[in-house]
Amino acid sequence: QSLKTHHTFSLNAHCRDIKTVNSADSLIAFSKAYSADSFLVLGEGSNTVFVDDFLSTIVLNKIRGIAINEDSTHYYLRVGAGENWHELVCLCMQKNIGGFENLALIPGTVGAAPIQNIGAYGVEIEKFIESVEYLDTADQTFKKMNRDACEFAYRGSTFKYQALNSRIITYVNFALPKQYELVCHYGPLRELQQNLPKDETVDAKKVFDEVIRIRQQKLPDVKVLGNAGSFFKNPEICKSDFVALQTKYPDMPSYNVDSSTVKVPAAWLIDYLGFKGQRNGDIACHKHQALVLVNLGNGSGEQLLALARNIRDSVQTHFEISLENEVRLMGSSGLVAL
Ligand code: FAD
Ligand code: EPU
Repeated sequence: QSLKTHHTFSLNAHCRDIKTVNSADSLIAFSKAYSADSFLVLGEGSNTVFVDDFLSTIVLNKIRGIAINEDSTHYYLRVGAGENWHELVCLCMQKNIGGFENLALIPGTVGAAPIQNIGAYGVEIEKFIESVEYLDTADQTFKKMNRDACEFAYRGSTFKYQALNSRIITYVNFALPKQYELVCHYGPLRELQQNLPKDETVDAKKVFDEVIRIRQQKLPDVKVLGNAGSFFKNPEICKSDFVALQTKYPDMPSYNVDSSTVKVPAAWLIDYLGFKGQRNGDIACHKHQALVLVNLGNGSGEQLLALARNIRDSVQTHFEISLENEVRLMGSSGLVAL
């Protein structure tokens, strides 16, 4: 079966067959019937690129349901892993539940959100996660992991580094404080207040609208141009290396991570080397955002891997900075290293 519409990069890959699970019960029934290495659970395929035909079964996670409770201090949400993330953000905005506004318009499912700790515009989802419910395929039982055990990090968590399918997320529990501060320190959000009429103040809805506006300007729409968002992670390097690089590249931007580490925008490094707009067959480095690789229509896995390797190697040679892919590359029988 074709996977073209099941991953947002839309490469022309196939798999053995595609099944759907609509409930935790149907998931466990499926998991008991098949060995964990004979299938792969997928959400909306916005962080997964099938660079080759996948020889096993794809299981689409469609576990739904949103339960909202509250006490005097928090809203508590228990959300099925197959719910769409942005629709959840919209629902919260409608109900005046603030917190998720910076994470508007991130594609994908709620169940995949904790895996790489989705983040944007100064907020990462770990801030609101209370626990993650999952099926442990080693003993076929449902378990719950509290936030502290999830080992959240920049674009990572314990779920990202485990063997594929060893823990299948079924529900995510969020706690959103009723009293909280808006996060407006990231780039263009800083100008939000000063651009408003004098009698208006920034609120969650205004941040939500602005984030959507910025994202629509910068990031290609997956319905129009296949892509998987940022292809590489922003590299973290030690401050002394950065200071040395700055003498050669005074315009190189950076963000402090802690007292000894800085994050450098990979987009800047790739852009500096002139890759923006470059093509390899039908795969290109996006003309508005150098960190996003796009499928112009009939791109292939080989073309994508070749361009991505060329970018990674050029950045290494030129800046001595290692780029790590953010997207998951899937080959015929599992993860593929770049
Ligand atoms: P999928 O790609 O379907 O799955 C990701 C991986 O998790 C796969 O390996 C899959 O096997 C596994 N998986 C999926 N569901 C489960 C489950 N229930 N249990 C266990 N394993 C599972 N990310 C950000 O953090 N910030 C951004 O700003 C951002 N912007 C993006 C913009 C664009 C245009 C695109 C295309 C992507 C962007 N992303 C961003 C990446 C992506 O949206 C997120 O990683 C998202 O959480 C992926 O969700 P998904 O359901 O599509 O995951
Ligand atoms: N820049 C360039 N050239 C470009 C684009 C950007 O030089 O073509 C420079 C600019 O200096 C800019 C800086 O890079 O200020 C950062 O760019 P941007 O604000 O667009 O963010 P990013 O670092 O490229 C990260 C995330 C995005 C997230 C945005 C907003 C990673 C890998 N990517 O992108 O996440 O939406 O910040 O918070 O951390 C994703 O994970 O898929 C994703 C899209």
